[in-house]
Amino acid sequence: MNRRHLVAATAAALVAGAMPAAAQTYPARPITMIIPFAAGGPTDVVARIVAEAMSKNLGQAIVIENVAGAGGTTGSTRLTQAAPDGYSIMIGHTGTHAASVALYPNLRYNPVSDFAPIGLVNTNAILITAKKALPANNLTEFVAWLKANERTANNAHAGIGSVSHTTCLLLHAIIGVKPQSVPYRGTGPAMNDLVAGQVDYLCDQVVNVAPQVRAGTIKAFAVAQPQRNAALPDVPTTAEAGLPAYQVVVWNAMLAPKGTPDAIVTRLNQALVAALNDDGVKARLAELGADLPTGNLATPAGLRAFLEAEIAKWTPVIKEAGVTASN
Ligand code: MLT
Repeated sequence: MNRRHLVAATAAALVAGAMPAAAQTYPARPITMIIPFAAGGPTDVVARIVAEAMSKNLGQAIVIENVAGAGGTTGSTRLTQAAPDGYSIMIGHTGTHAASVALYPNLRYNPVSDFAPIGLVNTNAILITAKKALPANNLTEFVAWLKANERTANNAHAGIGSVSHTTCLLLHAIIGVKPQSVPYRGTGPAMNDLVAGQVDYLCDQVVNVAPQVRAGTIKAFAVAQPQRNAALPDVPTTAEAGLPAYQVVVWNAMLAPKGTPDAIVTRLNQALVAALNDDGVKARLAELGADLPTGNLATPAGLRAFLEAEIAKWTPVIKEAGVTASN
């Protein structure tokens, strides 16, 4: 061994020595990924696409466990109770890890300090959608219909504090209505009932909406962001459709329990970044209208700062809109 090789080998031994023994062989068995909503919904769909690519990179299966309930806070609480060994991770989102702070006075976890952030996965546009039989054909007609039918109109959502709940509450605050609320265990089942005409409308993420709009099974009145979504180019923005004040974009984030060793978080982040750079993953997410993270958001430090900023952003928005878990 020459001197250069000896230095390299010594450095590698020092790095390995600094790592906990379990991190050196990680992952040695399948990893469980908690999805805090029902199967078939937007969080689940994105998670399965990304988990498949990550498991190839890690050389171990990633087993999806749907732990739905209480707007995603049941599954999030479950992760905080798991061993911090890299074999339990989750996908949280704007609801579970930002809006929940203002909506749940007795939230059983701190969305930042009880977790080890791995990286942001994607962002999702929100669309205002309705059942096909609803007698409104654009956003202006929908707002007029909602005002006229406030007492009987029913709004499907994925439980208190979920994205579909919070984003429609903001819409209601802008319009000045308080319709009936119909909670589900995720917007997968809520969307099934919207398609079947059992509920009137839903504020949902583009990945759940795009396939249905393309199939012509529901109506989409507007996308709540400044530019149209490439997956649904015919759907106007809320500004184009006459409600510029309604702007909201949501996100999915990958997290481990607090105390997960840094070396394992780094390995999971490498697998996440590789998955997000995979051409097949990019194409599948683009087809569903999801956007990839920018800047340093796909890093553990970037996600931690982002979570803190999102909690600071959402808390006053929810309070100023007069939105509570009982709206
Ligand atoms: C889901 O996956 O069902 C959704 O993300 C729920 C929600 O609206 O927050």
